[in-house]
Amino acid sequence: MNASVKETGAAGRPAVSIRDASKLYASSGGELNWAMTGVNLDIGEGEFVCAIGPSGCGKTTLLNTIAGFIQPTTGSVVAGGQPVTGPGADRGVVFQEYALFPWLTARRNIEFGLKMQGLDAPARRARAEELLALTGLSHAAGRYPFELSGGMRQRIAVARALATQPRVLLMDEPFAAIDALTRTSLQRELLRIWQELRLSVFFITHNIEEAVFLAQRVVVMSAHPGRIREIVDIDLPYPRNRADPAFGALYERISAAFAQNEEATA
Ligand SMILES: Nc1ncnc2c1ncn2[C@@H]1O[C@H](COP(=O)(O)OP(=O)(O)OP(=O)(O)O)[C@@H](O)[C@H]1O
Ligand SMILES: [Mg+2]
Repeated sequence: MNASVKETGAAGRPAVSIRDASKLYASSGGELNWAMTGVNLDIGEGEFVCAIGPSGCGKTTLLNTIAGFIQPTTGSVVAGGQPVTGPGADRGVVFQEYALFPWLTARRNIEFGLKMQGLDAPARRARAEELLALTGLSHAAGRYPFELSGGMRQRIAVARALATQPRVLLMDEPFAAIDALTRTSLQRELLRIWQELRLSVFFITHNIEEAVFLAQRVVVMSAHPGRIREIVDIDLPYPRNRADPAFGALYERISAAFAQNEEATA
């Protein structure tokens, strides 16, 4: 699909390039299931892409292949010009719910990946301080996850994912469990961080409004088998206004793609 291919960046090379990727799962009962088929997608350098689609359509599968947690059955995934063969410091991941280590303080959660990379304690601490400041949580550095609100935990999860200075941030429904008001401020903060760090972001959501608020392009997926149904350009300036009629029009357009989805899978 031509619309899925986007080449940006000084090097003229996308941050992530997925070609003809599919994933076949065999369940424990031996049943075969194509979770994802024929996915072609480029994520440009510094581009913000949202993926949206019904439950079970393969969104997490797609994200996990970019993260390198799983290998596609067919096709290829390239990040930063290198074939993805496993997880890497160039790709930070934020999971749906509270995936912090409960036995570590906020600061030590952020430092975890840096420790794995062999950074010494003063360098780790300095980097954690920067990220705590970036996410507005300097005051909570010494708290454990159970002492943080849901919104604060997800800010720490973002800080942890950014610790190794990834070029790509992969986010799997990171704000799904957060109340509406906090969610709105997390969305604004994420846009600020994205713009400040010039990252590429791949963000999964079930929420059309969230996708239109955040993304430059929205990938609409359909299920059975999971594939890209349509890619919608969100050509609105930031910061976006939900009351803008153009915002509403894009919301409706994505809703319509969803309705087609439902008809197709009914
Ligand atoms: N490890 C696995 N083994 C077998 N099947 C799997 C595995 N992981 C996912 N699947 C199947 O692959 C399909 C896609 O799953 P995936 O988790 O990617 O969906 P999703 O779009 O992220 O859904 P949700 O919105 O509910 O998170 C589903 O049919 C699911 O049952
Ligand atoms: Mg999922």
